[in-house]
Amino acid sequence: MSTVAATLDEEQSDAWERLLERLNRQSVLKHFDAYADVRWDDPEYAIDPRDGRWELDEDDSLGATDWYRAQPPEIRSRIGLHMVATQMKTGLQFESILKRGLLEWAAGLPNRSPAFRYAYHEVIEEAQHSLMFQEFVNRAGFDIPGLSRLMRFQARGIVRLGRVFPELFFVFVLGGEDPIDHVQRDALRQGGAHPLLERIMRIHVTEEARHLSFARQYLRERVPRLSWLRRQRLAVRAPLILGAMAQLMMQPSSQMVAEYAIPRSVIRAAYKQNPRHRERTLESLQKVRALLVELGLVTPVTSRIWRRLGLLTDSDFLGH
Ligand SMILES: [Fe+2]
Ligand SMILES: [Fe+2]
Repeated sequence: MSTVAATLDEEQSDAWERLLERLNRQSVLKHFDAYADVRWDDPEYAIDPRDGRWELDEDDSLGATDWYRAQPPEIRSRIGLHMVATQMKTGLQFESILKRGLLEWAAGLPNRSPAFRYAYHEVIEEAQHSLMFQEFVNRAGFDIPGLSRLMRFQARGIVRLGRVFPELFFVFVLGGEDPIDHVQRDALRQGGAHPLLERIMRIHVTEEARHLSFARQYLRERVPRLSWLRRQRLAVRAPLILGAMAQLMMQPSSQMVAEYAIPRSVIRAAYKQNPRHRERTLESLQKVRALLVELGLVTPVTSRIWRRLGLLTDSDFLGH
């Protein structure tokens, strides 16, 4: 290894150690409890499906359709709430996979590793988030189904990645955390959300900021050390994972489509043939995409996969 490369390597490792120290400290100083820190029984926080604050706004992909706007106000609000509850359920299922994968990863770390401590802080925080999300789902009153049998099977494969291919596992982590973080920050900036939802989102973005910097720095630290072959495998599988997750997170579930008899053509117009929706998906993945570009994982060959999945625009800098 050249001296320059060795120095860069050391700097990267220093940055990793410093980050872990800071994150471990912050996790003790600022953390939340799903029940002590959310006033669930405050009348202001009560959930009423007819509350107009749940309504999807015109900037939302489904909210913008003529079909949605033609629904009576109480159905519009109910659909909005159903959508939030569905996203929370998806969120907690994602967090379940994340926690199990993190535990697999941490099991392989040596004694005295500060990363072991941080992984456990993160597992604990995610468990608090999942309690919050599930409590919201329960109070919203919809019986939202869990993962399908096929997805439960796929989930086990992702958990295993925590042990056998942690770099790909952390791409999956960013694919789940980054878009949600983006959406929640946007919603908080805009304001006007129901106070209970606002409280949950505030707690979430505060802790997610740590999880995101952990996953990003882990990839910066690890990817340059991977063998050529493993880098290629990572580069090919990353967009496939990100594409699947973007679909899962942003669209109404089949339960919702059935319950409100949303016509197929409306779903197509809102999500499949909607340039604004495509733009929003791209925006929500912007940070993770930029990181993978920085790490040299978006190559001329794999950029075709990215493009095919609609995850890359012509303006994206590819570094070559
Ligand atoms: Fe979370
Ligand atoms: Fe997280």
